[in-house]
Amino acid sequence: MLAAGLRRLRVRPVLLLGKTGQLGQALARYLAAGDRPWVALSRADLDLAQPAAIAPVIQAIQPAEMINAAAYTAVDRAEQEPELAQAINGRAPGILAEIATQLGVRLTHISTDYVFDGRQGRPYQEGDRPNPLNSYGASKWAGEQAVQAVSDRHLILRASWLYAATGPGNFVTTMLRLGRERTEVRVVADQVGTPTYVADLVTAWAQLPPDLGGLYHYCNSGVASWYDLAIASFEEAIALGLPLQVERVVPITTADYPTAAQRPAYSLLATQKLSEILGAPPPHWRESLRQMLRVWGDRPPAQSDQQL
Ligand SMILES: NC(=O)c1ccc[n+]([C@@H]2O[C@H](COP(=O)([O-])OP(=O)(O)OC[C@H]3O[C@@H](n4cnc5c(N)ncnc54)[C@H](OP(=O)(O)O)[C@@H]3O)[C@@H](O)[C@H]2O)c1
Repeated sequence: MLAAGLRRLRVRPVLLLGKTGQLGQALARYLAAGDRPWVALSRADLDLAQPAAIAPVIQAIQPAEMINAAAYTAVDRAEQEPELAQAINGRAPGILAEIATQLGVRLTHISTDYVFDGRQGRPYQEGDRPNPLNSYGASKWAGEQAVQAVSDRHLILRASWLYAATGPGNFVTTMLRLGRERTEVRVVADQVGTPTYVADLVTAWAQLPPDLGGLYHYCNSGVASWYDLAIASFEEAIALGLPLQVERVVPITTADYPTAAQRPAYSLLATQKLSEILGAPPPHWRESLRQMLRVWGDRPPAQSDQQL
């Protein structure tokens, strides 16, 4: 019905996929505050695991631009469901790119630092060869290649360690929950990367030239381990007066916390290429974490609790 209404008005909207995700929610807030018409779809509106469903839904909307924030993001579960992860992350982006090409519009697609194996001793640049360690990373890399193969009007943004104050949950909100429930929390200290606040990614995307294409890295500045991020989350939360009972944060190794999916020990992304276009480096992760926690702390208590 919405698509029919838009057709009648001859308005071509921005189309957002993945509206219920943490990045999707942040993008939806940005689009809602602007003056461009937009349409956001959830999995219930369009299941990317059903390839035949994709073109009819999007052709009916006739978007002026497409942003794909939808993905299979359960990194450990992907080891048991590699085919489903490939369908959503690997093949669907190629179908989206084909449709974008037919419509003559840009597709923005989001990828991940987990395309890399973490065995490099310097931040990964866009030209460095991916070598994913797990099924999720392999599916995301397949998605990048599928987009690149069919569309010359694509923008792929590789991000890392995303977190937000709203959405299905993330490492920071999990730590806040554990910090309220426990006196001791054990956190992996031998994997490093850069935590990235989705609000910064959205701001950066919105500032980019509308015709910019290619592959770019975007993450906040600085470096942290999961342990560093947990400590910082607790420190910032306590400084804001948020109630926590955690007393000890114990650094552990990856071997102490076995998971189904192997993760890169080092996944820093070099962001110079995009920073040159934006005219400034991304904000430091610690500053952005503080901002996210302010947003978190300002939420009504009942709502904040639901997110934990
Ligand atoms: N989270 C991270 O740390 C991280 C790091 C680097 C890059 N990324 C990438 O950044 C992007 C956004 O991630 P995020 O953290 O915002 O993810 P998220 O919060 O897990 O949200 C994923 C979104 O994808 C939707 N989705 C899942 N399966 C779908 C399907 N079959 N059909 C249609 N939609 C489907 C989800 O819908 P439901 O609500 O129905 O499940 C949800 O809206 C993804 O491309 C991800 O790979 C994430």
